[in-house]
Amino acid sequence: MLAGAANPIENADLSEAAGRDGGNDHRLAFARDLTQCLAETPHIISPKYFYDEAGSLLFERICELPEYYVTRTELDLLQRDLPAMAQTIGPNAEVLEFGAGSLLKARLLLRALESPRRFIAMDISGAHLQAAAAQLQREFPTVEIIALEGDFNALDRLQGLPAIEPGSRRVGFFPGSTVGNLSPLEANRFLADSARLLAGGGLLIGVDLVKSPMVLHSAYNDAAGVTAAFNRNVLVRANRELDAGFDIDSFAHYAFYEPRLQRIEMHLICLRDQTVQIADRRFTLRAGESIHTENSRKYTVEGFRTLAASAGFTAKAVWCDPMQLFSLHWLASGVTGSEER
Ligand code: AVI
Repeated sequence: MLAGAANPIENADLSEAAGRDGGNDHRLAFARDLTQCLAETPHIISPKYFYDEAGSLLFERICELPEYYVTRTELDLLQRDLPAMAQTIGPNAEVLEFGAGSLLKARLLLRALESPRRFIAMDISGAHLQAAAAQLQREFPTVEIIALEGDFNALDRLQGLPAIEPGSRRVGFFPGSTVGNLSPLEANRFLADSARLLAGGGLLIGVDLVKSPMVLHSAYNDAAGVTAAFNRNVLVRANRELDAGFDIDSFAHYAFYEPRLQRIEMHLICLRDQTVQIADRRFTLRAGESIHTENSRKYTVEGFRTLAASAGFTAKAVWCDPMQLFSLHWLASGVTGSEER
């Protein structure tokens, strides 16, 4: 059954109301963060604002691009090594996916695990999640499926997470290398908070690896311009939701690999002077100024294991594709004695 009591977005009437209020809350937060971005130099905005409905669809298209090896490689890796991963994770898992999207990878995991008990799909956007969870419930009638609206960047404030059932162990799932979009400080906080949440269990996490800058460059500068549209979507959204008045076409998508920081940086470069308005404040952007929209950090296997250990996990197994493009790590949290895997 699709769980009810613990699910803050299940009730149709309530979720509709929450959608309206949530929409206003989201708009207010966006206005606040964009105001801060434009008032400060350098201009930096969180990549979470890419993901409205149009942005999520653009991201799905990115995942299918020939240049964007990330999704394809991780899926291949899951197909190949899920039996070993499931063996490592063990039976009776209660899986908590952080930032659940289409749930495609969750399906593969649930199929591979031995008697999974529960699957909790957590995401900031409730509407899409609810439908995806209901579909998953039809496919896995013996697993309790829960949709939980929450932000993986604020796990310490997560509400509505049901208590773990006796005999289950909580297993986090964070595929897609979304951890790479977090700053080192945020990544450390996410890992430390999830280690506490998953005590006695562990985290299966996808991490993109350091590689040839040419491969990285083309992955974030695809020929079809989908990543450029995804990047500009933050301005499209600002115009639609906040009536900001950006001249979208006068912003160039600029993505490059910064080897010292081991990250792709995405920027929008303003190509002509313009004035925009957020609520009652006006900001002038000059030609040549940048709005920094995203970092996508790449790790070495050892670098990520060290980060995980500093956050309280014990880095256990790691699986990589033959070309060493991508990695999936099993991190154990607070496991002792005979429970140790
Ligand atoms: C979601 N995240 C892991 C993607 C990445 O590769 O950093 C977002 C993305 N940005 C541009 N292309 C894809």
